[in-house]
Amino acid sequence: MFTLTPCLGFITRFERFRWRRSVERERQLRRGRIEISQTIHDTTAQTAYLFGLGIHKARKLAGESDDELAATLDATLTLTKSAMWEMRGPIDAGHIVEGRELGRVLWSHCATFKRIAGVPAELSLSGLEPPMSTDTRNRLFSVAHNALTNAFLHARPTRVDVRLSFEAESVSLSVSDDGVGLPDDYAQRGRGFIGMKADAEHVDGKLIVESLRGCNGTTVTCVVPYSTHSGGC
Ligand SMILES: Nc1ncnc2c1ncn2[C@@H]1O[C@H](COP(=O)(O)OP(=O)(O)OP(=O)(O)O)[C@@H](O)[C@H]1O
Ligand SMILES: [Mg+2]
Repeated sequence: MFTLTPCLGFITRFERFRWRRSVERERQLRRGRIEISQTIHDTTAQTAYLFGLGIHKARKLAGESDDELAATLDATLTLTKSAMWEMRGPIDAGHIVEGRELGRVLWSHCATFKRIAGVPAELSLSGLEPPMSTDTRNRLFSVAHNALTNAFLHARPTRVDVRLSFEAESVSLSVSDDGVGLPDDYAQRGRGFIGMKADAEHVDGKLIVESLRGCNGTTVTCVVPYSTHSGGC
């Protein structure tokens, strides 16, 4: 009994030390992610925006004078827009890490998509957003960003609809475009769907992919239950 008491005290102090160290490590990681997001926003993203303006102006000056020059400038402008959009992933994920609600971040993400891609992206929200962990909000955001990127790069859509529904037991996020639909071998073409599935499964959720060829578009849905580790911060 006499030898057990100091041992128990030591274990308690050690556990408390470990817990404090992991909280501090988590805080440092968050700070690092927010700094990266701000740095990208203030440097590379601004430069890409200026590239875009320059190419847009050059395209106007080129007019119809030279088909090859016009095609090169059009392709370069599309690439610049794609780079600008890709950068919005880490930039807006920074807002998630800062603690902003998923609905709010997705709302501005859709507005930015519309500005960069020139395709309307509307967010519809249903239900009230409950407290969800940073990891859950982050994984759902990542799925939305990847699905929007795919719509921009591959679908040739006229519009994209993003739905976020907070239901009784789970949160459901879907991104639908009215574009060309998925090719049969879509799963072998890249790593985007693998990443979205991994994001969903990481928080005990599932990814559902629906698509019909011939301008019926694609819908990517991610459903995540409010499990014990997705509640709170
Ligand atoms: N919304 C969409 N509409 C039409 N085709 C799509 C759509 N989303 C994906 N695809 C097709 O499915 C393929 C696989 O998509 P996926 O996101 O896995 O990879 P990727 O976009 O090619 O590359 P990355 O690994 O950089 O995401 C794409 O190459 C494209 O052919
Ligand atoms: Mg992709």
